[in-house]
Amino acid sequence: MARRLQAMIGPSILNSDLSRLYEESQKLLDNGADYLHLDVMDGHFVPNLTLGHPVVKCLRNKIKDVFFETHMMVSKPEQWIVPMADAGVDQYTFHIEPVDNVAEVCRKIKESGMKVGLAIKPGTPVSEVEKYISMSDMVLIMTVEPGFGGQKFMENQMVKVQHLRKNYPLLNIEVDGGVGPSTISCCANAGANMIVSGTAVIGAADQAATIKLLRSTVQEAIDRQ
Ligand code: DX5
Ligand code: ZN
Repeated sequence: MARRLQAMIGPSILNSDLSRLYEESQKLLDNGADYLHLDVMDGHFVPNLTLGHPVVKCLRNKIKDVFFETHMMVSKPEQWIVPMADAGVDQYTFHIEPVDNVAEVCRKIKESGMKVGLAIKPGTPVSEVEKYISMSDMVLIMTVEPGFGGQKFMENQMVKVQHLRKNYPLLNIEVDGGVGPSTISCCANAGANMIVSGTAVIGAADQAATIKLLRSTVQEAIDRQ
């Protein structure tokens, strides 16, 4: 049977109560999250700090069988490949903007046993990431400037998603930033299948219903394609 695209929802825990990282993560999973999107910031590539591999490793010790994606908003992604692999990360998604040799970083990530995600900021043309698609497992189109949760969704980024979906029907395309019930249709119709959602899910009165709505909207768009 031919491979098919799958709608997947990966909440971002950035705006949750981080003193309760495990409980908040487990709650998201109990409420139907397909994977966890862990935002790693270095205070250099973006003007904010979050968490690093020691925290990811502790979380992995408590949550065994769930797909962990780390979104590496860092200036030197090659520096954290081995520590993140050791921490039990499944997919290492890094920004290509500060990297000289993207192919080399992709190779090292694979060698460490992780999947490769390539991320671009809103100002980066999609052609920049397109050259490396054959080396990757997923492309992340940022729909806010990376650095903070709770920002407004940038609809003008959807042309990138549309372009990629048209040319790469089976590529995993992720969107991240300002995605929630009011913006999900836009992402789904453009062709995104992996959905990161932070504040909209964390702050939802009914997390399970929100995650379900996000997933069904995306799945219906996939089924129409
Ligand atoms: C932004 C992060 C996102 C963000 C998502 O730099 O990469 O993952 O926290 O949060 P919301 O959905 O609130 O924009
Ligand atoms: Zn993110």
